[in-house]
Amino acid sequence: MDKIKVIILNNNLEERFEIENALANIDYIEMVRTPDDFEEAQAIIDSDLVDVILVSSSFNGSGYDVAEKLSTEFVDKATIIIEKEINEDSMYQAMFSGAKDVILLPVKPNKLVDSIYKANKITKKRLEFHRKSDVNRKKTSGYGQVFSVFSTKGGTGKTFFATNLALSLLKETNKKVVLIDFDLDYGNVSLALDIVPKFTIIDVIDDIKSVDSDYIETFLTNHESGLKVLAASKETNVNDFINSEHIQIILKAFQSAYDYVVIDMSSRFNDATNPAFIFSEKLFLITTPEIMSVKNIKGAITTLTDFNYPKNKINIVLNKFSKNSDIRSNDIEKILGYDILYKIPDDYLKVTASLNQGIPYIQKYSRSEIAKSFINIVKNITINQN
Ligand SMILES: Nc1ncnc2c1ncn2[C@@H]1O[C@H](COP(=O)(O)OP(=O)(O)O)[C@@H](O)[C@H]1O
Ligand SMILES: [Mg+2]
Repeated sequence: MDKIKVIILNNNLEERFEIENALANIDYIEMVRTPDDFEEAQAIIDSDLVDVILVSSSFNGSGYDVAEKLSTEFVDKATIIIEKEINEDSMYQAMFSGAKDVILLPVKPNKLVDSIYKANKITKKRLEFHRKSDVNRKKTSGYGQVFSVFSTKGGTGKTFFATNLALSLLKETNKKVVLIDFDLDYGNVSLALDIVPKFTIIDVIDDIKSVDSDYIETFLTNHESGLKVLAASKETNVNDFINSEHIQIILKAFQSAYDYVVIDMSSRFNDATNPAFIFSEKLFLITTPEIMSVKNIKGAITTLTDFNYPKNKINIVLNKFSKNSDIRSNDIEKILGYDILYKIPDDYLKVTASLNQGIPYIQKYSRSEIAKSFINIVKNITINQN
């Protein structure tokens, strides 16, 4: 492995020693000489082939300004801010300065090393991507349709519906389809599809300044079917830094690169992911034939109505439907004031078998009732398209 060359921009001796000590015994990190001022720093970064720049937030007036200048001037280097305290404001400044991360003083050596490693990896990856850019991509309309799947109660089958809808869209239309896991609390699309993501939405947010319709591709995980997936992070605490602006940037990038964008939404109304409602062509609200679930969906409809959400975007789906259900579908329609557009039968045995084998339901049971329901949904939602 090539050594990662690191420079420290910090005029405070004590802090600098602290950082140098933390990195002293890492054999794949090499420190370059320390500059006294910004001008000297630029010269060293240029001549010594530095990979990662650690900037103290107070360096040269504002470390954030320095980071911004450096990340514009040296696109092949990663910048990390060293900060005394962290808050939403500093996080925001850091993100838009082009810095890859913010590390708190006193430094935790493991965290710092990990951050340097990741920042370097992601920067080199972007370079590589731009070098290889423009490989023969499938052409899309440039205006992908967004379908979101929502339910305010867990366990109703949001993830099941979203994954199988995305797979059916891919199979029936042979167009470009991406599935996004925006369930920032309980994201489990990866589990449902049995994939191991290398990158998650958090990596996209870390690099949000560079995100466009080409670059976003490098964060996706491939499912063997050909479906592309943007996975959620397993660490739910990091999701606090995701805001609605990020989500809009991500959705716009996907809209221009894909024909269909399917979203497994959060199971609550959440400021960050709310733009997805607005971007959606159709919003699938999933209920099961149980009182609690219907009540929850009723509440969700009330909230959406309060927002003046267009009624015609709402598609009610009754999932896990069976003959001996608690409530009849007529009664559910009366309670909700909406027709049930799609019914998906309960099929516990086959669903369990498909989960155990890691093969998505509609792939394993392509002639089943459920698979037919999805084919019908795809027909309906793509009807006005060529
Ligand atoms: N139609 C169905 N028949 C049988 N089991 C289902 C059906 N839909 C979903 N499930 C199962 O119910 C459980 C909860 O579904 P999931 O999609 O994870 O819910 P959510 O994402 O809404 O929390 C999962 O084990 C899933 O496989
Ligand atoms: Mg889920």
